[in-house]
Amino acid sequence: MRENSNAPGYPLTAGTPQLREAIKNWAIANLGASGDFDVLPLIGSKEFVAWLPTLLEIKSVIFPDVAYPTYNVGAILAGAIGFPVAISPSAWPASELAWINSPSNPTGRVHSDSELKDVIAWARKNASVLVSDECYFEFGHTTTPHSILKFTDGNNTNILAVHSLSKRSSMAGYRAAFVIGDRELISRIREVRKHAGMIVSLPVQEAMVSALSDTKHVSDQRARYNLRREKLIPALERVGFAIEESGAGLYIWCTRNETDWESVAWLAELGILATPGNFYGEKGARNIRIALTATDMAIDEAVSRLSAADISEVKK
Ligand SMILES: Cc1ncc(COP(=O)(O)O)c(C=O)c1O
Repeated sequence: MRENSNAPGYPLTAGTPQLREAIKNWAIANLGASGDFDVLPLIGSKEFVAWLPTLLEIKSVIFPDVAYPTYNVGAILAGAIGFPVAISPSAWPASELAWINSPSNPTGRVHSDSELKDVIAWARKNASVLVSDECYFEFGHTTTPHSILKFTDGNNTNILAVHSLSKRSSMAGYRAAFVIGDRELISRIREVRKHAGMIVSLPVQEAMVSALSDTKHVSDQRARYNLRREKLIPALERVGFAIEESGAGLYIWCTRNETDWESVAWLAELGILATPGNFYGEKGARNIRIALTATDMAIDEAVSRLSAADISEVKK
Protein backbone atom coordinates (compact mmCIF):
# COMPACT_ATOMS: atom_id res chain seq x y z
CA MET A 1 0.00 0.00 0.00
CA ARG A 2 2.84 2.37 0.85
CA GLU A 3 4.55 1.72 -2.49
CA ASN A 4 1.35 2.61 -4.36
CA SER A 5 0.17 5.50 -2.20
CA ASN A 6 0.86 8.18 -4.85
CA ALA A 7 -2.40 7.49 -6.68
CA PRO A 8 -4.31 10.71 -7.37
CA GLY A 9 -6.17 9.46 -10.47
CA TYR A 10 -9.47 7.61 -10.49
CA PRO A 11 -8.98 3.87 -9.99
CA LEU A 12 -10.83 1.31 -12.11
CA THR A 13 -14.18 0.16 -10.67
CA ALA A 14 -13.50 -3.22 -12.33
CA GLY A 15 -10.13 -3.52 -10.55
CA THR A 16 -6.63 -3.43 -12.04
CA PRO A 17 -5.78 -6.28 -14.43
CA GLN A 18 -3.34 -7.58 -11.77
CA LEU A 19 -6.04 -7.62 -9.09
CA ARG A 20 -8.59 -9.25 -11.38
CA GLU A 21 -6.05 -11.93 -12.25
CA ALA A 22 -5.11 -12.45 -8.58
CA ILE A 23 -8.77 -12.88 -7.55
CA LYS A 24 -9.43 -15.23 -10.47
CA ASN A 25 -6.44 -17.43 -9.73
CA TRP A 26 -7.22 -17.46 -6.02
CA ALA A 27 -10.82 -18.49 -6.72
CA ILE A 28 -9.75 -21.36 -8.97
CA ALA A 29 -7.08 -22.60 -6.55
CA ASN A 30 -8.95 -22.11 -3.27
CA LEU A 31 -12.67 -22.20 -4.00
CA GLY A 32 -12.72 -24.72 -6.83
CA ALA A 33 -14.30 -22.14 -9.17
CA SER A 34 -14.68 -23.43 -12.72
CA GLY A 35 -16.35 -22.59 -16.03
CA ASP A 36 -16.99 -19.04 -17.09
CA PHE A 37 -17.01 -16.46 -14.28
CA ASP A 38 -16.05 -12.86 -13.58
CA VAL A 39 -14.72 -11.01 -10.53
CA LEU A 40 -15.18 -7.54 -9.04
CA PRO A 41 -13.48 -5.78 -6.10
CA LEU A 42 -15.70 -4.30 -3.36
CA ILE A 43 -15.28 -1.66 -0.66
CA GLY A 44 -15.62 -4.39 1.98
CA SER A 45 -18.36 -6.99 1.75
CA LYS A 46 -20.77 -5.08 4.03
CA GLU A 47 -21.51 -2.48 1.35
CA PHE A 48 -22.24 -5.29 -1.12
CA VAL A 49 -24.58 -7.07 1.29
CA ALA A 50 -26.35 -3.80 2.07
CA TRP A 51 -26.67 -2.55 -1.52
CA LEU A 52 -26.90 -5.58 -3.81
CA PRO A 53 -30.71 -5.82 -3.73
CA THR A 54 -30.90 -2.09 -4.61
CA LEU A 55 -28.35 -2.37 -7.43
CA LEU A 56 -30.21 -5.32 -8.96
CA GLU A 57 -33.67 -3.81 -8.29
CA ILE A 58 -34.65 -6.91 -6.34
CA LYS A 59 -38.06 -7.02 -4.66
CA SER A 60 -37.82 -10.14 -2.47
CA VAL A 61 -34.83 -11.34 -0.45
CA ILE A 62 -34.38 -14.39 1.72
CA PHE A 63 -31.65 -14.82 4.33
CA PRO A 64 -30.89 -17.20 7.23
CA ASP A 65 -33.19 -16.93 10.25
CA VAL A 66 -30.14 -16.51 12.49
CA ALA A 67 -27.91 -14.12 10.55
CA TYR A 68 -25.75 -11.07 10.14
CA PRO A 69 -28.34 -8.23 10.28
CA THR A 70 -27.16 -6.49 7.08
CA TYR A 71 -28.96 -9.01 4.81
CA ASN A 72 -32.24 -7.68 6.18
CA VAL A 73 -30.99 -4.08 6.08
CA GLY A 74 -30.22 -4.58 2.37
CA ALA A 75 -33.79 -5.75 1.77
CA ILE A 76 -35.15 -2.72 3.65
CA LEU A 77 -32.93 -0.27 1.70
CA ALA A 78 -34.19 -1.76 -1.57
CA GLY A 79 -37.83 -1.55 -0.44
CA ALA A 80 -37.90 -5.34 -0.85
CA ILE A 81 -39.69 -7.98 1.22
CA GLY A 82 -37.24 -9.85 3.45
CA PHE A 83 -37.91 -13.42 4.64
CA PRO A 84 -35.79 -15.16 7.30
CA VAL A 85 -35.50 -18.88 6.43
CA ALA A 86 -34.12 -22.16 7.82
CA ILE A 87 -30.96 -23.77 6.40
CA SER A 88 -32.73 -26.30 4.19
CA PRO A 89 -34.31 -24.75 1.09
CA SER A 90 -37.14 -27.32 1.08
CA ALA A 91 -39.65 -24.79 2.48
CA TRP A 92 -38.15 -21.55 1.13
CA PRO A 93 -40.65 -19.24 -0.58
CA ALA A 94 -39.98 -18.17 -4.17
CA SER A 95 -37.73 -15.13 -4.05
CA GLU A 96 -35.61 -13.05 -6.42
CA LEU A 97 -32.48 -13.22 -4.27
CA ALA A 98 -31.29 -15.66 -1.59
CA TRP A 99 -28.35 -15.23 0.78
CA ILE A 100 -26.54 -18.06 2.45
CA ASN A 101 -23.62 -17.59 4.85
CA SER A 102 -21.10 -20.34 5.55
CA PRO A 103 -19.26 -20.31 7.93
CA SER A 104 -22.03 -18.39 9.63
CA ASN A 105 -21.91 -15.26 11.65
CA PRO A 106 -23.04 -15.71 14.44
CA THR A 107 -23.21 -19.52 14.73
CA GLY A 108 -19.98 -20.74 13.12
CA ARG A 109 -22.09 -23.31 11.26
CA VAL A 110 -20.73 -24.65 7.97
CA HIS A 111 -22.96 -25.80 5.10
CA SER A 112 -22.38 -29.42 4.12
CA ASP A 113 -21.70 -30.24 0.47
CA SER A 114 -25.22 -31.60 0.08
CA GLU A 115 -26.74 -28.46 1.62
CA LEU A 116 -24.78 -26.37 -0.90
CA LYS A 117 -26.01 -28.55 -3.76
CA ASP A 118 -29.60 -28.25 -2.47
CA VAL A 119 -29.51 -24.44 -2.49
CA ILE A 120 -28.05 -24.42 -6.01
CA ALA A 121 -30.89 -26.71 -7.15
CA TRP A 122 -33.43 -24.45 -5.41
CA ALA A 123 -31.98 -21.31 -7.06
CA ARG A 124 -32.02 -22.92 -10.52
CA LYS A 125 -35.58 -24.13 -10.09
CA ASN A 126 -36.76 -20.68 -8.93
CA ALA A 127 -34.56 -18.64 -11.33
CA SER A 128 -33.34 -16.83 -8.22
CA VAL A 129 -30.03 -15.06 -7.71
CA LEU A 130 -28.08 -17.04 -5.10
CA VAL A 131 -25.33 -15.23 -3.18
CA SER A 132 -23.05 -17.12 -0.83
CA ASP A 133 -21.36 -14.92 1.78
CA GLU A 134 -18.11 -16.76 2.42
CA CYS A 135 -16.20 -14.06 4.30
CA TYR A 136 -15.07 -16.53 7.00
CA PHE A 137 -14.14 -19.20 4.45
CA GLU A 138 -10.50 -19.54 5.52
CA PHE A 139 -11.33 -20.09 9.17
CA GLY A 140 -12.25 -23.74 9.34
CA HIS A 141 -11.64 -25.52 12.65
CA THR A 142 -13.41 -28.80 13.36
CA THR A 143 -15.28 -28.37 10.06
CA THR A 144 -13.75 -27.35 6.73
CA PRO A 145 -15.88 -24.94 4.69
CA HIS A 146 -16.46 -25.37 0.96
CA SER A 147 -17.44 -22.68 -1.51
CA ILE A 148 -20.71 -22.67 -3.42
CA LEU A 149 -18.57 -22.29 -6.56
CA LYS A 150 -17.19 -25.79 -6.09
CA PHE A 151 -20.62 -27.27 -6.82
CA THR A 152 -21.84 -25.31 -9.85
CA ASP A 153 -20.21 -27.74 -12.33
CA GLY A 154 -18.95 -24.72 -14.22
CA ASN A 155 -22.43 -23.25 -14.72
CA ASN A 156 -22.31 -20.09 -12.60
CA THR A 157 -25.48 -18.50 -13.95
CA ASN A 158 -27.19 -16.46 -11.21
CA ILE A 159 -24.61 -17.55 -8.63
CA LEU A 160 -22.20 -15.28 -6.75
CA ALA A 161 -19.71 -15.87 -3.91
CA VAL A 162 -18.59 -12.94 -1.75
CA HIS A 163 -15.20 -12.90 -0.03
CA SER A 164 -13.53 -10.37 2.21
CA LEU A 165 -9.98 -9.62 3.27
CA SER A 166 -11.29 -8.07 6.51
CA LYS A 167 -10.96 -11.31 8.47
CA ARG A 168 -8.72 -13.40 6.19
CA SER A 169 -5.97 -10.79 6.14
CA SER A 170 -7.02 -8.58 9.08
CA MET A 171 -7.67 -5.73 6.61
CA ALA A 172 -11.08 -4.58 7.89
CA GLY A 173 -9.82 -1.00 8.24
CA TYR A 174 -8.84 -0.79 4.56
CA ARG A 175 -12.20 -2.04 3.17
CA ALA A 176 -11.22 -4.79 0.77
CA ALA A 177 -13.48 -7.54 -0.53
CA PHE A 178 -14.56 -9.07 -3.83
CA VAL A 179 -17.33 -10.98 -5.55
CA ILE A 180 -16.91 -13.90 -7.95
CA GLY A 181 -19.44 -15.56 -10.21
CA ASP A 182 -21.96 -15.06 -13.02
CA ARG A 183 -20.34 -12.85 -15.67
CA GLU A 184 -23.64 -11.33 -16.77
CA LEU A 185 -24.72 -10.39 -13.25
CA ILE A 186 -21.29 -8.99 -12.40
CA SER A 187 -21.36 -6.91 -15.56
CA ARG A 188 -24.70 -5.36 -14.51
CA ILE A 189 -23.44 -4.76 -10.98
CA ARG A 190 -20.16 -3.23 -12.24
CA GLU A 191 -21.99 -0.86 -14.58
CA VAL A 192 -24.19 0.56 -11.80
CA ARG A 193 -21.28 0.70 -9.35
CA LYS A 194 -19.31 2.91 -11.79
CA HIS A 195 -22.08 5.49 -11.58
CA ALA A 196 -22.67 5.01 -7.86
CA GLY A 197 -19.03 5.75 -6.94
CA MET A 198 -18.41 2.30 -5.48
CA ILE A 199 -14.71 2.21 -6.32
CA VAL A 200 -11.87 0.58 -4.35
CA SER A 201 -8.87 2.93 -4.03
CA LEU A 202 -5.75 1.96 -5.97
CA PRO A 203 -3.44 1.55 -2.93
CA VAL A 204 -5.99 -0.86 -1.45
CA GLN A 205 -6.30 -2.74 -4.77
CA GLU A 206 -2.51 -3.19 -4.79
CA ALA A 207 -2.54 -4.35 -1.16
CA MET A 208 -5.24 -6.90 -2.08
CA VAL A 209 -2.91 -8.41 -4.71
CA SER A 210 -0.21 -8.81 -2.05
CA ALA A 211 -2.62 -10.27 0.49
CA LEU A 212 -4.00 -12.82 -1.99
CA SER A 213 -0.51 -13.94 -2.96
CA ASP A 214 0.35 -15.02 0.59
CA THR A 215 -1.15 -17.83 2.65
CA LYS A 216 1.20 -17.90 5.65
CA HIS A 217 -0.46 -14.96 7.41
CA VAL A 218 -3.84 -16.67 6.89
CA SER A 219 -2.82 -19.97 8.45
CA ASP A 220 -1.16 -18.09 11.34
CA GLN A 221 -4.39 -16.17 11.93
CA ARG A 222 -6.50 -19.33 11.67
CA ALA A 223 -4.30 -21.05 14.26
CA ARG A 224 -4.60 -18.01 16.55
CA TYR A 225 -8.43 -17.99 16.41
CA ASN A 226 -8.70 -21.75 16.80
CA LEU A 227 -6.43 -21.77 19.85
CA ARG A 228 -8.61 -19.08 21.43
CA ARG A 229 -11.69 -21.23 20.73
CA GLU A 230 -10.01 -24.29 22.27
CA LYS A 231 -9.20 -22.33 25.43
CA LEU A 232 -12.63 -20.74 25.80
CA ILE A 233 -14.85 -23.76 25.11
CA PRO A 234 -14.00 -25.79 28.26
CA ALA A 235 -14.15 -22.63 30.39
CA LEU A 236 -17.64 -21.84 29.06
CA GLU A 237 -18.76 -25.44 29.52
CA ARG A 238 -17.58 -25.33 33.14
CA VAL A 239 -20.00 -22.47 33.86
CA GLY A 240 -22.92 -24.32 32.24
CA PHE A 241 -22.89 -23.30 28.59
CA ALA A 242 -23.60 -25.85 25.88
CA ILE A 243 -21.66 -25.13 22.70
CA GLU A 244 -23.71 -25.28 19.48
CA GLU A 245 -22.29 -25.33 15.93
CA SER A 246 -19.08 -23.23 16.22
CA GLY A 247 -17.09 -25.55 13.92
CA ALA A 248 -15.52 -22.65 12.00
CA GLY A 249 -15.39 -18.88 11.75
CA LEU A 250 -14.71 -16.29 14.40
CA TYR A 251 -17.34 -17.04 17.00
CA ILE A 252 -18.54 -19.40 19.70
CA TRP A 253 -22.34 -19.82 19.72
CA CYS A 254 -23.58 -21.17 23.03
CA THR A 255 -26.58 -21.44 25.31
CA ARG A 256 -27.46 -22.03 28.95
CA ASN A 257 -30.81 -22.64 30.64
CA GLU A 258 -31.79 -18.94 30.42
CA THR A 259 -32.39 -16.09 27.95
CA ASP A 260 -29.57 -14.48 25.99
CA TRP A 261 -29.78 -11.30 28.08
CA GLU A 262 -29.50 -13.30 31.33
CA SER A 263 -26.33 -14.94 29.99
CA VAL A 264 -24.96 -11.58 28.82
CA ALA A 265 -25.69 -10.03 32.24
CA TRP A 266 -24.06 -12.92 34.13
CA LEU A 267 -20.91 -12.67 32.01
CA ALA A 268 -20.90 -8.87 32.35
CA GLU A 269 -20.59 -9.32 36.13
CA LEU A 270 -17.30 -11.09 35.38
CA GLY A 271 -16.28 -8.26 33.03
CA ILE A 272 -16.79 -10.44 29.92
CA LEU A 273 -18.64 -8.98 26.96
CA ALA A 274 -20.85 -11.28 24.84
CA THR A 275 -23.49 -10.49 22.22
CA PRO A 276 -27.14 -11.50 22.79
CA GLY A 277 -28.29 -13.98 20.14
CA ASN A 278 -31.53 -12.12 19.40
CA PHE A 279 -29.42 -9.46 17.62
CA TYR A 280 -29.28 -12.07 14.82
CA GLY A 281 -32.93 -13.07 14.78
CA GLU A 282 -35.63 -14.25 17.19
CA LYS A 283 -34.38 -17.82 16.94
CA GLY A 284 -31.20 -16.72 18.70
CA ALA A 285 -33.01 -15.53 21.83
CA ARG A 286 -31.52 -18.21 24.09
CA ASN A 287 -27.98 -18.08 22.70
CA ILE A 288 -25.03 -15.75 22.98
CA ARG A 289 -22.17 -15.08 20.58
CA ILE A 290 -18.63 -14.88 21.88
CA ALA A 291 -16.14 -13.30 19.48
CA LEU A 292 -12.63 -14.70 19.17
CA THR A 293 -11.33 -11.34 17.99
CA ALA A 294 -10.27 -10.16 21.46
CA THR A 295 -6.51 -10.25 22.08
CA ASP A 296 -4.83 -13.43 23.35
CA MET A 297 -4.29 -11.63 26.66
CA ALA A 298 -7.99 -10.74 26.99
CA ILE A 299 -9.02 -14.30 26.09
CA ASP A 300 -6.65 -15.74 28.72
CA GLU A 301 -8.06 -13.32 31.28
CA ALA A 302 -11.65 -14.34 30.37
CA VAL A 303 -10.70 -18.02 30.72
CA SER A 304 -9.22 -17.43 34.16
CA ARG A 305 -12.29 -15.46 35.32
CA LEU A 306 -14.62 -18.21 34.05
CA SER A 307 -12.49 -20.87 35.75
CA ALA A 308 -12.71 -19.02 39.08
CA ALA A 309 -16.41 -18.08 38.81
CA ASP A 310 -18.88 -19.20 41.48
CA ILE A 311 -21.33 -21.51 39.69
CA SER A 312 -23.42 -22.54 42.70
CA GLU A 313 -26.29 -20.22 41.60
CA VAL A 314 -26.23 -21.25 37.92
CA LYS A 315 -29.55 -22.87 36.86
CA LYS A 316 -29.16 -26.51 35.88
C1 LIG B 1 -21.39 -12.58 7.59
C2 LIG B 1 -20.70 -11.29 7.32
N1 LIG B 1 -20.71 -10.80 6.07
C3 LIG B 1 -20.10 -9.64 5.78
C4 LIG B 1 -19.43 -8.91 6.75
C5 LIG B 1 -18.80 -7.61 6.36
O1 LIG B 1 -17.42 -7.62 6.42
P1 LIG B 1 -16.54 -6.57 5.61
O2 LIG B 1 -17.44 -5.45 5.18
O3 LIG B 1 -15.54 -6.09 6.58
O4 LIG B 1 -15.96 -7.29 4.43
C6 LIG B 1 -19.40 -9.38 8.06
C7 LIG B 1 -18.71 -8.61 9.10
O5 LIG B 1 -18.66 -8.92 10.25
C8 LIG B 1 -20.06 -10.60 8.35
O6 LIG B 1 -20.06 -11.12 9.60
